[in-house]
Amino acid sequence: MRLLAVTVSIGAALLVMTATPSYAAGGDAIFKKSCTGCHYTDGPAKEKTIAEQLAKKGPELWYAGSKFQKDWLASWLQNPKPIRPLKYNSLTEKNAADHPKLSAGDAAAITDFLMGLKSSEVKAGVIKPAESAQARNIYAKKAPCGGCHESLVNGKPAGGKSGPSLAGASKRLNPDWIYAYLANIKAFKPVRDMPDFASALNKKDQMSLSAYVATFE
Ligand code: HEC
Ligand code: HEC
Repeated sequence: MRLLAVTVSIGAALLVMTATPSYAAGGDAIFKKSCTGCHYTDGPAKEKTIAEQLAKKGPELWYAGSKFQKDWLASWLQNPKPIRPLKYNSLTEKNAADHPKLSAGDAAAITDFLMGLKSSEVKAGVIKPAESAQARNIYAKKAPCGGCHESLVNGKPAGGKSGPSLAGASKRLNPDWIYAYLANIKAFKPVRDMPDFASALNKKDQMSLSAYVATFE
């Protein structure tokens, strides 16, 4: 009887283990130890007021697996270059470029953990990176996105500094996430500095703009 009970409980434990997402061993543990002081990974969005947004020390990561490209994430964690030209949550101070750096092993484990965090808002395979005159015009003139975001023009960063830089978006961001973000920004940023373009731009414009941003070198 006792043997049977032990076998049953081991079986139940195995079932529980296979039901949880497949993190590389240790990635979630390293994250808990070194990263939760500034980032949270359990969604949906927790910040509901400006005070709660300003209390955050770093961007939310609960949809990291839908937002980022895996190779970019693994290498950025080892060699973190500023993404936002200005300090997080500031409109005046420069980004101090002091993000913690990880070893290759820790970066790989945490990347596997973060890439497992997906948002159901993001549908896969909708946006293919592509340039178009229409999108270029919305980006530069109609919206204008470049008023708040940097991108490379003739190899040099140009544009506003209040938003994250979009230079390198082709390697950093998942094109389908860019579209989900423009289409329903509130799902990701209930409190935000970026205008809501969902009604100002129709679906076709949102899609071509996302495809365009996804080409940024
Ligand atoms: C002291 C606070 C702090 C700690 C600790 C910290 N981060 Fe960050 N993290 C930030 C800030 C601030 C940014 C924004 C950096 C930028 O824009 O250049 C950031 C950005 C990121 C990003 C990019 C997110 C985005 O939306 O652009 C990832 C991924 C990330 N951190 C992962 C980690 C991991 C993994 C750890 C633990 C090893 C960690 N961070 C520890 C503050 C922190
Ligand atoms: C008034 C300034 C402003 C304008 C205009 C603006 N943005 Fe933003 N954008 C921001 C800010 C600020 C963020 C950071 C989001 C936050 O934390 O609130 C952001 C975030 C983003 C992100 C996510 C980047 C990341 O790494 O997290 C993308 C993609 C983006 N914007 C694209 C666009 C596009 C495309 C347009 C034009 C339709 C646009 N933005 C217009 C300010 C702006």
